[in-house]
Amino acid sequence: MGQFTSEEKEAMKAEAGIAACAFVENGMKIGIGTGSTVKYTILELGRRIREEGLDVVGIPTSEATEKLSIEQGIEMVDWSNCQYLDLVIDGADEFDSDLHLIKGGGGALLREKIVAESSGGMIVVADASKKVEILGAFPLPIEVNPYGWEQTQRRIEAICEGEVVRRGPDYVTDNGNPILDAHFGPNIADPVQLEADLRSISGVVEVGLFTDTADVVVLAAPGGCELIRKPTARL
Ligand code: 5RP
Repeated sequence: MGQFTSEEKEAMKAEAGIAACAFVENGMKIGIGTGSTVKYTILELGRRIREEGLDVVGIPTSEATEKLSIEQGIEMVDWSNCQYLDLVIDGADEFDSDLHLIKGGGGALLREKIVAESSGGMIVVADASKKVEILGAFPLPIEVNPYGWEQTQRRIEAICEGEVVRRGPDYVTDNGNPILDAHFGPNIADPVQLEADLRSISGVVEVGLFTDTADVVVLAAPGGCELIRKPTARL
């Protein structure tokens, strides 16, 4: 998406990341997403903890997020002592008008989906370059088991018109799994069906399509920030 300069994009990321913190209240358990937009959410939560005494705990979606969150003074909990999160704030690589998402550009899709499905609501922080008519220009990240990943790749290729490329020979996620980036092109007309089809392939651990998961997108554009709510939004 070349219509924005890198400075404009960074300013929009900061605006969205900070604005989403308006949903966070004292006493909440929150899921903390991964990426360069959520980074600003974490910094803002840290500021509110230090300056306003905000009292929250969080579960991170990646090791990088855990490290930054701890540096910012956000208390981390884990699944042994937490069954449910009030909300999660996370980024996206693309979103459409139904608030279906492509995620996993940062490789954290499995943990992000576990956290999103355990949360009372999902807030997506995004700059204007992430909004699309039809998903798929961004290559779809698919986390796969290392065993027989080449065969899993072939089976994905059978339903993907474009290339299916392993993300670097040595790249693995925080869970130790490779990622295959599937180049569907901007023509994922039925993301719900595609998510189901890909998840039915043995060897696929998780798919970066998040369908019917997000409630609100905090969308930053050069003119300011807007909230896009799904009609059935829980938040
Ligand atoms: C990581 C993700 C990120 O949320 C997504 O890649 C967006 O990241 P950024 O805010 O850096 O553009 O899904 O797995």
